[in-house]
Amino acid sequence: MDSAERIDRDIETLAGPDYTVSDEAIRRYAYTDAYRRTLDYFVRELESLGFEVDEDAVGTLVARNRPRGEPVFGVGSHCDSNRNGGRYDGTMGVVTALEVCRLNAERGLDLPLQLISFLEEEGSGFGQMLLGSRIVAQRVTEDDLRERFRSIDDGRSFWEHAADAGHAPDRWRECAHILDDLTGWIEMHIEQARVLQDTGNRIGLVTAIAGYVHADVVVHGRGDHAGATPMDFRLDPTLVLAETAIELERLANEAGQGTVGTIGEIEIDPGLINAIASEVRFSLDIRGPVEDAYGGVARDIAAFAERAATARGMTADYRERQTIPPTPMDVRIVDALEAAARTTGEPYMRMHSGAAHDTMCVADRVPTAMVFVPCKDGISHHPDEDADPADAALAAEIILNAIQALA
Ligand code: GLV
Ligand code: MN
Ligand code: MN
Repeated sequence: MDSAERIDRDIETLAGPDYTVSDEAIRRYAYTDAYRRTLDYFVRELESLGFEVDEDAVGTLVARNRPRGEPVFGVGSHCDSNRNGGRYDGTMGVVTALEVCRLNAERGLDLPLQLISFLEEEGSGFGQMLLGSRIVAQRVTEDDLRERFRSIDDGRSFWEHAADAGHAPDRWRECAHILDDLTGWIEMHIEQARVLQDTGNRIGLVTAIAGYVHADVVVHGRGDHAGATPMDFRLDPTLVLAETAIELERLANEAGQGTVGTIGEIEIDPGLINAIASEVRFSLDIRGPVEDAYGGVARDIAAFAERAATARGMTADYRERQTIPPTPMDVRIVDALEAAARTTGEPYMRMHSGAAHDTMCVADRVPTAMVFVPCKDGISHHPDEDADPADAALAAEIILNAIQALA
């Protein structure tokens, strides 16, 4: 089997019914059986290559072909998925990292490698994106893990779930050590936009990753009867939601420079056809490569929502969930990847990433870079996600050659 065939086999296997909790999408997240089986698949494959496989205190997978304390080069991504996910976002990056490890053995290169599959990149379990890598980077507090981060499914804390799954959340600070021996880090991922497809490039070399603000707005209105309450006698919080959604579009357009804004979650209480809502919660996802630009939108939309509520006799609270600044990639690693890409003769380009990645947290302590491959029509976070294993095989080749050149 060649690289593309092996990558295809891994992806197809992990798209099977044992590896998802939904039959309509790939849906797997921390501490579910489907996620456990996905990790176990990688454990088996990596052990067959002679890697020592371990998990950190909350369940991020770490595998290495050198004893701890010896320098290694890091490769990997995440194998949890969006709740409405496809088979490629995250998983193809871990599969490609695995392929780098296979080629390293097959060619007798014996480069020192460490593969990482980060826990909960998508936030599907606890609504917190990049959770495993933020724990590694210590960008969370103990209170976040014990109390604040709660399961979307049952409201129990991250702490309880991690402990029930056999992990040791009380040792979360030790997770930082998984980066101790890394001399560099490369993550491969599907692009999640259509720049590569539209420009006919097979490889994207990421130079920077957009930063973001995640927040929630809660508008407090007055629950009432939908038929019996005259229009001028209502405190209807859905109207503040509507006004805020339109203003968010205007502000993001005005800020420009790649700024984008999205209301992705809407919760209406009580959510009945014949009742005026008493309360509405909606999320804000505001991102871009220029912090001043998207940060200004976040500030302005928070103030707007509060004003819009007041103007209608209601109140609104804005609460930040998390923020991560834009992250530049390491010039030396990007240059090594570019040299390796050029040698293949295949078309490639430099680009920035609009989506967030665990690499943003790795970059705190380790020189990092990312390699993108095209995904069909740019679709991701959707079961229709599609990407070509041959492109991932090309990425594996480029990554391996770059690591060799950097060694
Ligand atoms: C990560 O999946 C993101 O939404 O950027
Ligand atoms: Mn991803
Ligand atoms: Mn994703």
